[in-house]
Amino acid sequence: MTGPPVTLVGDGLEVPCIDGSERPYLSFDAAASTASLPSVLKRVEEFVPWYSSIHRGAGYKSQVATAAYEDARGAALAFAGDRGPDDVAIICRNTTEALNHLAYRLRLDPRDVVVSTVVEHHANFLPWGRIATCRYVECGPDGTFGVSDVELALDEAPRPRLLAVTGASNITGWLPPLDLILAAAHERGIPVVVDAAQLAPHRPLPQAADFIAWSGHKMYAPFGAGVLVGPRQAFMEGDPFLAGGGAVDLVDLDEVVWTDPPDREEAGSPNVIGAVALHAAIDALGDLGWPAIGAHDRRLASLLRSGLEAIDGVHLLGPSSGTETLPVATFTVDGVSHALVAARLAAEDAIGVRHGCFCAHPYLIRLLGLSHKDVVAYREGLRRGDRSEMPGAVRASAGLNTTEADCEQLLAAVARIAGGDPPPVPYSQDLRTGDFFPPASAAPWQLGLRSHGSFCSPG
Ligand SMILES: Cc1ncc(COP(=O)(O)O)c(C=O)c1O
Repeated sequence: MTGPPVTLVGDGLEVPCIDGSERPYLSFDAAASTASLPSVLKRVEEFVPWYSSIHRGAGYKSQVATAAYEDARGAALAFAGDRGPDDVAIICRNTTEALNHLAYRLRLDPRDVVVSTVVEHHANFLPWGRIATCRYVECGPDGTFGVSDVELALDEAPRPRLLAVTGASNITGWLPPLDLILAAAHERGIPVVVDAAQLAPHRPLPQAADFIAWSGHKMYAPFGAGVLVGPRQAFMEGDPFLAGGGAVDLVDLDEVVWTDPPDREEAGSPNVIGAVALHAAIDALGDLGWPAIGAHDRRLASLLRSGLEAIDGVHLLGPSSGTETLPVATFTVDGVSHALVAARLAAEDAIGVRHGCFCAHPYLIRLLGLSHKDVVAYREGLRRGDRSEMPGAVRASAGLNTTEADCEQLLAAVARIAGGDPPPVPYSQDLRTGDFFPPASAAPWQLGLRSHGSFCSPG
């Protein structure tokens, strides 16, 4: 095994820039979604002729498709830390659906306490807040907390029913000390759900987590499948998150006999192609091996973080470059809106980054050091339909296909903007989305693309 970087489907695709050139697109947005690994696409193409209804078809193709789907389930269970028959993998759309699914299935009372953290993505935040009482672990100015902070929250009364924690932050790439956190919760008899959306493509999943959720589209399988893994027992009682065909053994007008998990949890026709793709991605990551993936990540994380820290006028959010993180670096540039930095990187350098609040508003508010008064003012703007002043930052996130030369290219482009290089064309801001756009004369291709905008405040 030679180790990353590897080529992904679509690498080298050229996109238009405002100087009239077409340049290879450079994605620094792996933390949002990754392109497909060639082996994943190949497996999907090989499977498509066999695509057929699963679980309910007696024909040969249905049997082949059902076997492929169930093999994918087995691979997901193994990927989540070699779990045994007491655990079950539920194939769903993505991490968001998995966590909402679990929140529904745990049948919590509004007075039950769920301990979560301010570092969470909204997907591991909002589902708990609407069914239970949340107690949050705060972070310091560098966006981290220690296991003792988690212990304090776990030890407060009333005793929590669950701890919901991320495996890695989608803003800073910070890796909370998961093993210690899991041990602390388990010592107290409190189950833990780990949001592994960011962790899954980068590090082995923690076997000790009671529940774990992740998405295929962030691990090189952009075909719409995600997974929720947890103890079978947790899904044996009560009605499932989705009610419908496939989830039942017998239905009459006055009675429903739900079937056993995992089928009980997967009403409706499953996404078999998504499952096949996810299985292929799990195999591919296994072939590369975690040591090689980890070494690649560490190299890029250090290059990105120390490189950004060294640019005058650039402020890296989160822990300093000495702390181990995923290859995710979020930053602000003095005097230049995050939206303008992202627009310039796209239009002048063919570089794709994310900007805004990254669907983790409480964390970003803390990382930017915003006051409650600031937040109220931003909310007022939003209510008027004006996103022009929304706070935010720029995120560069790398994947298996990112090279050191790619990082240098990004850093040079950021240094140019931070160094005061004037924009070659006058960009204008769309107040509704908060995004900046070059004039149509310089970027005619944007006319058909700009309706939704790229700012992730609707996040
Ligand atoms: C940490 C984290 N959790 C959850 C999610 C939600 O994932 P999905 O959009 O696949 O449901 C994301 C997506 O960015 C994430 O980064």
